[in-house]
Amino acid sequence: MRREDGTDGAVRQPVSVERGIVSALTVQSLYKIFGRRADEAVRRLADGRPRAEALAGLPATAAVIDASFEVRPGEIFVVMGLSGSGKSTLIRMLNGLLRPTRGSVRVDGVELTTLKPAALRKLRREKISMVFQHFALMPHRTVVENAGYALEVAGLPRADRRERAMDALRMVGLTEWADNLPHDLSGGMRQRVGLARALAAGTEILLMDEAFSALDPLIRREIQDQLLELQAELGKTIIFITHDLNEAMRLGDRIAVMRDGRIVQIGTAEEILTDPANDYVAQFVADVDRTRILTAASVMEKPQQVLDVNAGPRVAAKALRESQTSVVYVTGPMKKFLGTVTEDEVLRALREGRPHLDGYVSTERVRTVTADTSVADLFADCAQSQHPVAVLDGHDRLIGVIPRITLLSALAAATPDEPAPDQDQAELVARKGEPA
Ligand SMILES: Nc1ncnc2c1ncn2[C@@H]1O[C@H](COP(=O)(O)OP(=O)(O)OP(=O)(O)O)[C@@H](O)[C@H]1O
Ligand SMILES: [Mg+2]
Repeated sequence: MRREDGTDGAVRQPVSVERGIVSALTVQSLYKIFGRRADEAVRRLADGRPRAEALAGLPATAAVIDASFEVRPGEIFVVMGLSGSGKSTLIRMLNGLLRPTRGSVRVDGVELTTLKPAALRKLRREKISMVFQHFALMPHRTVVENAGYALEVAGLPRADRRERAMDALRMVGLTEWADNLPHDLSGGMRQRVGLARALAAGTEILLMDEAFSALDPLIRREIQDQLLELQAELGKTIIFITHDLNEAMRLGDRIAVMRDGRIVQIGTAEEILTDPANDYVAQFVADVDRTRILTAASVMEKPQQVLDVNAGPRVAAKALRESQTSVVYVTGPMKKFLGTVTEDEVLRALREGRPHLDGYVSTERVRTVTADTSVADLFADCAQSQHPVAVLDGHDRLIGVIPRITLLSALAAATPDEPAPDQDQAELVARKGEPA
């Protein structure tokens, strides 16, 4: 999904390049003030004061205050915040449905705030689609007609419309329902029609405002998965609004947290969890299931002893003695991880007078995982691995190890006020004997 050059090989709209970052959409110092004396409101807010204090006595509401960010092509950028924090107002300025009070919005390098209404409509048709919370389907039109609606507005001939709409329905798994009316469909299916409509339009950017919030949890999860799959395939740029933290963490490549009109932090789920910008964000993320977000990379430690397979048993014995451990991690050509050698085997190699560790290295006592394995998925590996689990990068190089005790303490830190989220798993790990 995240391609290095931001393309998928297909024909693609040009993107703007600013300060060396390729971005699909750029927002700079964006403000939206409702009410009167907007200029005075902006002036008072500019120094960073909380909005209630800054606007006291002014007949104005500050919905978005000094927002700046860039969205990369192919990224899912989530905007998260409590009700009234300014999310919808922000997203509506991104496609020109609302005119900003101050600041700049650029899509593919085009400054939206200077466009005339006709040019804005064209941009919405060609570059940015929006998926709403309440489906907004037309009840007397069939599913395929609803899916092709944007194309109808764009003046495409009927046959082309149907073909593209059918393609989009296939992507969301609704081909069989094409000729039904919306009321034949469940809520989840209707929302997929909404998604199909945005996909049929063929725009690079999708704006989704609480698109899944009306769905019940299981359906919601399914459609989240579907969105992630589609995203992996199509590489759209998606700006997704939600007040649900778990949804944000599941979908977002990066997340912007809004509070009282301001963006208070932008980062990956992991960055926001491990390094919240302030108490507000920390409280917001306090009850998320961290074991799903934290990865092997964030809990691993530096391996104590790593030796090349060509090292001799004497070197290994010295290393073991110095580090007071009983296992060395062994790497081969290109630093690829080969396995572990225990104290006993080092002694055997010494007795047998072997020149190097080759022949004594084993993968039996150590499990390997990739850096992006979630902590939740590490339990079984940790329980089954006699030596601390080896963490490998994309080239099978050893980048860290996870002793059981490290995993357990990461788990404890993840849930300060309650028992570990999965006590059974924690006990399973703890019971499996001492870490090597
Ligand atoms: N047209 C408007 N006129 C006046 N004030 C508005 C208008 N639209 C929004 N607001 C105010 O701006 C602030 C931000 O509203 P917005 O709808 O953007 O929040 P939100 O984060 O989308 O909330 P929710 O999660 O409830 O959808 C709120 O205080 C709201 O009352
Ligand atoms: Mg809203």
